[in-house]
Amino acid sequence: MTSAPTNRARTRGSRTAEIVAVSRARHLLRHRRPYVLEDPFAIHFVGNRWRKVIGSRVLDALFSKVLVRKLMPITTQHLTRARFAEECLEEAVRRGVRQYVILGSGFDSFAFRRPDLGVTVFEVDLAATIDLKRERLAAAGMTPPETLRFVPIDFEKDDLRTRLVDSGLDPAEPSFFNWMGVSYYLTESAILYNLDRMAEIGGPGAEIVLDYLLAAECVPHEDRALFDAMMAFVGRRGEAMISRFDPAEAGTVLNPRGLWDVVRNESPAEHRRRYLGERNDVPPLAPITWTLHLRKKASGGPLENS
Ligand SMILES: C[S@@+](CC[C@H](N)C(=O)[O-])C[C@H]1O[C@@H](n2cnc3c(N)ncnc32)[C@H](O)[C@@H]1O
Repeated sequence: MTSAPTNRARTRGSRTAEIVAVSRARHLLRHRRPYVLEDPFAIHFVGNRWRKVIGSRVLDALFSKVLVRKLMPITTQHLTRARFAEECLEEAVRRGVRQYVILGSGFDSFAFRRPDLGVTVFEVDLAATIDLKRERLAAAGMTPPETLRFVPIDFEKDDLRTRLVDSGLDPAEPSFFNWMGVSYYLTESAILYNLDRMAEIGGPGAEIVLDYLLAAECVPHEDRALFDAMMAFVGRRGEAMISRFDPAEAGTVLNPRGLWDVVRNESPAEHRRRYLGERNDVPPLAPITWTLHLRKKASGGPLENS
């Protein structure tokens, strides 16, 4: 794999993951029902400074209407991508899937929210992000359920297959992989390497949902300012976005060995229609990422037994 630029999440835990928790917590504080995603645990993963901001009407207005006004559409994307992933997971569970792997899980709270689904949840992330999550869980007095396994990994260096199998994933049983909000922080070679590992250990009918950042040349003129503001924002937090794809090619570029069928390759406009409709209490959805839903081909492809 090619070497990746320094990602400060490796040493101090992910700030972008914390911002996702802020978006989820703020949604419940500032927007109307029905929620796009109802995550009552998100507030526990938000640091004290952020909690003060979103907890105060005045500070929240200053933050959302002045300081980061341009970036607010990204906060809606944090909600819709999780909603999409969890809807796809629920369909998979109805077909019998019992292993849910969240890659770059950040401060996801699924294991706390949905014990009713009866799945084993593998939260896979950088060790520093997992440590930060454990700290915040402890501070909130939240005990991880038995069904939750934390799996430290660096997607740029480590072997996903070994890490997951050592953590109890059964490669003979089907798994559902949620890789939302992560591909853009990785090198293209790491994305492809890890997709191959998922094909190896995902079991029959494995599925993946992942989103990818629109390639620069595909960004309409009117959206360029939002892109630039976002790239600068995450860059300042030491978590640069480095991989981007053209939606016309993503289904083949990200699937060079043809191990996966492309179930969906969805635009943000589709998510806007499906999850937001006419509502205007949440910021308009950022048109910056597309979403791929892949299902492992029945043959399992050439890597099945490697
Ligand atoms: C923006 S957060 C996404 C959180 C969540 N998946 C979502 O959809 O909102 C990105 C996550 O990717 C993780 N991450 C970034 N680079 C990584 C790497 N090289 N290996 C493992 N995890 C990584 C970060 O620690 C962080 O938790």
